[in-house]
Amino acid sequence: MNIKNICCIGAGYVGGPTMAVIAQECPHIKVTIVDINESRIDAWNDENLNNLPVFEPGLSQIVQETRDKNLFFSTDIDKAIDEAEMIFISVNTPTKTYGKGKGMAADLKYIELCARQIAKVAKQDKIVVEKSTLPVRTAEALKSILDNTGNGVQFQILSNPEFLAEGTAVQDLLNPDRVLIGGDIDSEEGNEAIQALVDVYANWVSQEKILTTKVWSSELSKLTANAFLAQRVSSINAMSELCEKTGADVNEVSKAIGMDTRIGSKFLKASVGFGGSCFQKDILNLVYIAQSYGLSEVADYWEQVILMNEHQKNRFSDNIVSTLYNTVSGKKITFLGWAFKKDTNDTRESAAIKVADNLLNEQANVVVYDPKVSKERIYADLEYLNTRFSEVNRNLLSVENDPYKACKETHAIAVLTEWDEFKKYDWQKIYDSMNKPAFLFDGRGLLDKESLEKIGFVFYKIGVG
Ligand code: UDX
Ligand code: ADP
Repeated sequence: MNIKNICCIGAGYVGGPTMAVIAQECPHIKVTIVDINESRIDAWNDENLNNLPVFEPGLSQIVQETRDKNLFFSTDIDKAIDEAEMIFISVNTPTKTYGKGKGMAADLKYIELCARQIAKVAKQDKIVVEKSTLPVRTAEALKSILDNTGNGVQFQILSNPEFLAEGTAVQDLLNPDRVLIGGDIDSEEGNEAIQALVDVYANWVSQEKILTTKVWSSELSKLTANAFLAQRVSSINAMSELCEKTGADVNEVSKAIGMDTRIGSKFLKASVGFGGSCFQKDILNLVYIAQSYGLSEVADYWEQVILMNEHQKNRFSDNIVSTLYNTVSGKKITFLGWAFKKDTNDTRESAAIKVADNLLNEQANVVVYDPKVSKERIYADLEYLNTRFSEVNRNLLSVENDPYKACKETHAIAVLTEWDEFKKYDWQKIYDSMNKPAFLFDGRGLLDKESLEKIGFVFYKIGVG
């Protein structure tokens, strides 16, 4: 089967970059990204490329080259579904906030709505590709909805999990470690659908990096990859606390263990805690699935990765409070960074949110500076927690777009995101403008301890005793 038209439902952090790269690498395919959120589509179509809704290094250039040539952004979902032979679903799948599985299971209502819309509109056979992170066996549910509500049209469901990391999405898409495609490998139609998607990727990815599996292996591999990565971060974060107590340096420990080729050097950077839209959600999914099969030891094992992460965030804020003489009430505390990692404007599950919430509980005056995150996003993140009235959040926390202004007359600075620009600041100037003693808490192990202590900062670096 030769794919000429692709539709992607969901113009977010996954759909946007993925489709932009497919459009660039496959000029013979027309790619249409649709979304129910009109303002998001308008932003993707904005002439000023600085206004794209997703910030990713290299993305705006690809959008500039492909937009309105073979890459289109639209709110006309029905038309795009009708035209496409292959439909990617990359809508959000947040953790359920209500009912059974609340706080753990993935909320599949957006996926289900998509499936029903595809079933309603489709007049010809379609290949439907799951791109969102989904619990195992979602493909089965999708197939059931499509087969039972459609007009007799045949659907093939593929699982094609996304392994891109935000901040490096374009590079990850252009040079993936592997592309995973799960499908119905036992039927001829299933294999044809798998091959159609293999052919799309084969335009720029070598064949040996494209793995094809049964659909459930593919779905479970995504959760497993994220659980393993998150586990490494929680493992090194657990060691960071022990290093602080014993006088060791977690960066030295990371380097030493990372040189063991069996362990490897990546994902061993101690931090204030992992964030992002995937790690926590996927592990909670895994825990929920294990529990629902009665595998309580398996569930508890993986849940500990999340509990360690919560502890890491809490101990960072606890340390700020205890260092500032056990009270931060009315004190100004400056956050450098709000995004869950550098080079993205995404803030989902960012450690900064929890650390801020804890400090606001202590009545601190938090001032936030982040080079890419908007003021309204920061307030929305806090409001989502529902800890206190919105006006109280707005009274206690303010957002600055000049880092020097944010640090002026502050009692303490906390580095929550590892943005490169923080390393280049005039730290002497910042020190001179601060209240003394000038406390600096580096939650990302980003800054140079020796030079900052020389300036006069009371400096804390995560994992360094
Ligand atoms: C992750 C997976 O890497 C990706 O394959 C999947 O498709 C989606 O989830 P992402 O959440 O974008 O990607 O970012 P990632 O680079 O994995 O970082 C996740 C969190 O872990 C960030 O908050 C990051 O700061 C933190 N982290 C990562 C550490 O604290 N230390 C590390 O050594 C690595
Ligand atoms: P991700 O990180 O998984 O890409 P995002 O939240 O960034 O998640 O993007 C998901 C997008 O999917 C949002 O822009 C949202 O408006 C869109 N979306 C959700 N449900 C539907 C739907 N039924 N039809 C079209 N778009 C949808």
